[in-house]
Amino acid sequence: MKLIGTRREFLRSSAAAAGTSLLLSACGRGTATQSEPRADEQASAKKENNEMGGEVTATEDLMREHGVLRRALLVYTAAAAKVRGEHSSVVADALQKTATLFRDFGEEYHEKKLEEAYIFPAVKKAGGLAATYADILIVQHASGREITDYILAVTRGAKLGATNSEPLAKAMDALVLMYRNHAAREDTIVFPAWKQTLTAEELDEMNDKFEDIEREQFGEDGYENAVKQIADIESSLGLADLEQFTAPPPPKP
Ligand SMILES: [Fe+2]
Ligand SMILES: [Fe+2]
Repeated sequence: MKLIGTRREFLRSSAAAAGTSLLLSACGRGTATQSEPRADEQASAKKENNEMGGEVTATEDLMREHGVLRRALLVYTAAAAKVRGEHSSVVADALQKTATLFRDFGEEYHEKKLEEAYIFPAVKKAGGLAATYADILIVQHASGREITDYILAVTRGAKLGATNSEPLAKAMDALVLMYRNHAAREDTIVFPAWKQTLTAEELDEMNDKFEDIEREQFGEDGYENAVKQIADIESSLGLADLEQFTAPPPPKP
């Protein structure tokens, strides 16, 4: 999905070839045909350099994953209001799908395979403000998993039971509040601090590593599929139309 692996290798080899050519030219030992990249190589390198959108960096990757999870939180907020008023099968099914996405994409991949494996150990080692957050963030991951277990369990049937409605709504509200705070701290403090622990070359390697992990976990198009899943869930609950959320004008002061 990220156009990195082979493209990067190609660019590296192109850059190496270009560097060799420059060196040969500077030493006056190369003929025009030996020292300059072939026209088709130059055209390919230019095309690859101009690939629409370019590559996705590791930190961009983490933050756009948060975007998917934030959309799941918006579903939970809307669903909390609905389950307090009705116990429809549509809501139960949408919540089962949302919690499954949160488990697979958020907890098992984003949290466990990336943050807990790479980000938190590095920022803890580096010290500073971000290091003080790492242990709290891990506790919150565990808390989120308990709530996801609960949502999965109570939405398994076709309909939500009346007795489950209020506890379910409260659990979703609590998860939303925690995770909004959690992801906002990661975006603004922890991920930038992690980036500071890496050289440009190491960050480049992490871009590749995160892509490999994503491919191992989901095959091709892991992120795109997650976006599609949350969009389908939003549609089922009438949340797909963005315009409905445009704020009305405030009252006159
Ligand atoms: Fe996290
Ligand atoms: Fe996160």
